[in-house]
Amino acid sequence: MKKTTLIFLHFSIYFSTFFHLLSHANSQLSTQEQGILLNLKKLWGNPKSLKHWIPTNSSSHCSWPEITCSNDSIIGLSFRDYNINGTVAPFICNLKNLATFDVYNNSFHSTEFPIALYNCSKLEILDLSENYFYGAIPNDIHRMSWLRELSLEGNNFDGNISSSIGRLTELRKLMLSSCPFTEMEALEQLDLSENNLIGKIPDSLFMPKNLRIVYLYKNKLSGEIPQVVKALNLDVIDLSENNLTGTIPDDFGKLGNLTGLALFFNQLSGKIPDSIGRLPKLINLRLFNNNFSGSLPPEFGRYSMLEEFQVSTNKLTGQLPEHLCDNGKLLGVVAFENQLNGGLPKSLGNCSSLELVKIYKNKFSGNIPNGLWTSSNLTMLMLSDNSFTGELPGRLARNLARLEMNNNRFSGKIPQGMSSSTNLLVLKASNNLFNGTIPRDLSRLTILLLDRNQLSGSLPSDINSWKSLNTLNLSQNAISGQIPEELGSLPSLTELDLSENQLSGLIPSKLGLLKPTSLNLSSNHLTGSIPTEFENDAYAYSFLNNPGLCANRPSRYLNLENCSSRHQKSSKTSYKLIAWIIGLVVAVLLGLFISFFVIRNYKQGKHGLHLTWKLVSFQKLNFTELDILSGLTANNLIGSGGSGQVYHVVVNHSSDSVAVKKIWNNRKLEKKLEKEFLAEVKILSSIRHANIVKLLCCISNDNSKLLVYKYLDNRSLDQWLHRKSRATTFSSSINHVVLDWPKRMHIAVGAAQGLSYMHHDCSPPIVHRDVKSSNILLDLDFNAQIADFGLAKILIKEGELATMSAVAGSFGYIAPEYARTTKINEKIDVYSFGVILLELTTGRKANDGDEHTSLAEWALRHIQDGKPIGDALDEEVKESCHLNEMCHVFKLGLYCTSTQASTRPSMKEVLKVLLQCSQPVRNGEKNVIIEMFFPS
Ligand SMILES: *[C@@H]1O[C@H](CO)[C@@H](O)[C@H](O)[C@H]1NC(C)=O
Ligand SMILES: *[C@@H]1O[C@H](CO)[C@@H](O)[C@H](O)[C@H]1NC(C)=O
Ligand SMILES: *[C@@H]1O[C@H](CO)[C@@H](O)[C@H](O)[C@H]1NC(C)=O
Ligand SMILES: *[C@@H]1O[C@H](CO)[C@@H](O)[C@H](O)[C@H]1NC(C)=O
Ligand SMILES: *[C@@H]1O[C@H](CO)[C@@H](O)[C@H](O)[C@H]1NC(C)=O
Ligand SMILES: *[C@@H]1O[C@H](CO)[C@@H](O)[C@H](O)[C@H]1NC(C)=O
Repeated sequence: MKKTTLIFLHFSIYFSTFFHLLSHANSQLSTQEQGILLNLKKLWGNPKSLKHWIPTNSSSHCSWPEITCSNDSIIGLSFRDYNINGTVAPFICNLKNLATFDVYNNSFHSTEFPIALYNCSKLEILDLSENYFYGAIPNDIHRMSWLRELSLEGNNFDGNISSSIGRLTELRKLMLSSCPFTEMEALEQLDLSENNLIGKIPDSLFMPKNLRIVYLYKNKLSGEIPQVVKALNLDVIDLSENNLTGTIPDDFGKLGNLTGLALFFNQLSGKIPDSIGRLPKLINLRLFNNNFSGSLPPEFGRYSMLEEFQVSTNKLTGQLPEHLCDNGKLLGVVAFENQLNGGLPKSLGNCSSLELVKIYKNKFSGNIPNGLWTSSNLTMLMLSDNSFTGELPGRLARNLARLEMNNNRFSGKIPQGMSSSTNLLVLKASNNLFNGTIPRDLSRLTILLLDRNQLSGSLPSDINSWKSLNTLNLSQNAISGQIPEELGSLPSLTELDLSENQLSGLIPSKLGLLKPTSLNLSSNHLTGSIPTEFENDAYAYSFLNNPGLCANRPSRYLNLENCSSRHQKSSKTSYKLIAWIIGLVVAVLLGLFISFFVIRNYKQGKHGLHLTWKLVSFQKLNFTELDILSGLTANNLIGSGGSGQVYHVVVNHSSDSVAVKKIWNNRKLEKKLEKEFLAEVKILSSIRHANIVKLLCCISNDNSKLLVYKYLDNRSLDQWLHRKSRATTFSSSINHVVLDWPKRMHIAVGAAQGLSYMHHDCSPPIVHRDVKSSNILLDLDFNAQIADFGLAKILIKEGELATMSAVAGSFGYIAPEYARTTKINEKIDVYSFGVILLELTTGRKANDGDEHTSLAEWALRHIQDGKPIGDALDEEVKESCHLNEMCHVFKLGLYCTSTQASTRPSMKEVLKVLLQCSQPVRNGEKNVIIEMFFPS
């Protein structure tokens, strides 16, 4: 025992001496490193966020939360969201063991990349994202040779992508655009998408051997695609939406593992290399909107499980590849707008996976392969503007919804009952050689275009199955007989063109009840008086060249004779014998008749212009009433809502677009709507704000009211958040359809600015009363503008409750007190806006909590049940780098939807919080405000 103790003692003396020496060295290093930190703090102006940096002993800094130590030496510095405004000091690299330097989301600034960091010889992880660094990414950045993860997004770096990034041999992940890192073996994924990168792609892009994914889409890159490819394991290459020129590298033909190739929206040219057609794993090919020419590789689809084949809008010639569907996976052939010719590959007639075929505007000829018409999954078949021949089959694919075959040489008859067994909604077959009669059974068709064919016979009268029809164009055929009265009872018909046929007889008065937005009965043999509803300048061109037609009340625009004078004339010429007697009687009656009308017209004249359209404008316009009226066609219909239809009209043959809202003229609602209309005009004409939809003018007569707004290209927010099925991959131009979080945030801020303006900067303040995502319109840059003030009312006194006459709004958005009492103030808009914030963060609809609740109730219960907010967020946009911000906005949404109106914030406060969530902060205010709302 004693001996052991002695030995132990001995050892312990030995060791304690050793440790003493060691710790002396350590404490020297510690003291030195602590000094560096304190210098940093001073250099950065003693920021509040570092006020706890007060040393108590030589290693106490290792317990500060920003610092990571190993063996008392600093290996990590992390200042995420610290509100530090400073520079990266060269002496940071005196921290000899520094491996991580993370200053995400501060106000670090410098006119160039902080090359001082080159001296940090152990730096592995560098995150400079969301700061104010400028200038080019340096050419010698590879000198940071130990770097594994580099994150630079959210700065103002510009210029070329430095090729030396490719020489960072240890780099596993490079982030200029997206979210924090995950461990990877070596650089496998290069994501520089959606930056403002300009210049050429470095020649070494495809050199790293382990590279699998290259995303460079949505930049402004020019020049050619690097020709040499060493990264033979590449899985996906997406260089789309740049300005690239030149050809597809032949080396791409060696990429035995390539599944996706996206080069669309560039200016690439030349022939598509045949070797691409033989890639054994290729699934998605998207080459549309380039200048590719020559013939397509003949072996596409032969060796791979090809699903998407998209080569539209190029200059391709020759035939479609024969083998596209050899492996039975092909979903779509999108090859429109090329100069392809010949017949369609026979194999397409035996391709049951096929969902879309869009090959319009080519030079195809021959017959459609038989099986294609009935292909079981086919929903869209677009063949217009080719030279196809052949006849329609008796039966079509059950799922086919849209068949477009305008401007071809199809012939034969339109099979009776063709659409009865299908889901066909649209049939466009203008300008072909069809003959025979008009089919009786149209079941679900909404659009039927058969103009410029050789159809004959009369219009059927048992047309119960035409109920869904809203556009019918049969012009320039040889249709005879009368217009059936039943046409007047089709509930949805808004556009009717029967011009240039041989129709005769009277126009059924019932047709007047339709009040179609577009009507053309010109160049027929119709007789008698037109229905009174059509005695209206909007129909000025509807009845041309029908010598037998007349109007009871002709006008300057309506080029028709007066029916009464016509009677007089014909009676004189037809019956000579009793001409005098009848002439006398007629003359007397006519005198009475005319004087009646003269007086009536005179009276009406006094009461305003009964039939003419009146345009009230609030600014200089470059269009006329007629431009607008002629644009109200079913093709231009983009929506119909509670109180009217909305059309998208291109005016002036220019690119100018307007949205026209046509208020229903349903008698029952007339008074209420008249009031809405006047409110909308009055309020909107007095508001000028970037986040409020601009009203250009309104056009009205006694029957109709048209509001003309600036058209916003991206329509309304709800269509982006809640489109029923996300646009298919084939809706070529919209490829990245999910609204990402930064866009959603931008929209929230814009809408809040608009509402805040109405509540706080208008005198008297304006309450919208119907804030919902379908009333938030988006322009091309996703700037939000609030629309539809139909229900807005001006409050008499700020903050005072106004009693409204009726409850209006939409389920899910209505504040509880509004539903109960009909007494409201601005806080009901805050509630509805809160619901929009919840929609933006969760992706759910306002009325989609679960079975019985609204979204607001659902969100509240989610929190009350103690579930993490993260679980409620929209999976489509949830990324760790935005998580914090999304959680804040979710909470803000909850706060806005408090049941107690008084506890809801004002729009001004809401806006302030959103602004501070969404922008890097300068003045240290951020945390204060956010904590004010969300004490943790
Ligand atoms: C130094 O201070 C830190 C906290 O301030 C403490 O955790 C640590 O034990 C102290 N070390 C020494 C050697 O006193
Ligand atoms: C692409 O290049 C053309 C000229 O080659 C230029 O006019 C155009 O603005 C460029 N587009 C982009 C998005 O950089
Ligand atoms: C493709 O992947 C397989 C493994 O799935 C691998 O064996 C092959 O080497 C890869 N590369 C090429 C060029 O085929
Ligand atoms: C047709 O579509 C259905 C549903 O999307 C799918 O399950 C089926 O596999 C498709 N048929 C073919 C032959 O691909
Ligand atoms: C329709 O045209 C075809 C020739 O394309 C002709 O054989 C047929 O008789 C025509 N039918 C009618 C009803 O005119
Ligand atoms: C940071 O400080 C500099 C002066 O040192 C000042 O010019 C700049 O505006 C500040 N940046 C921010 C974002 O506050």
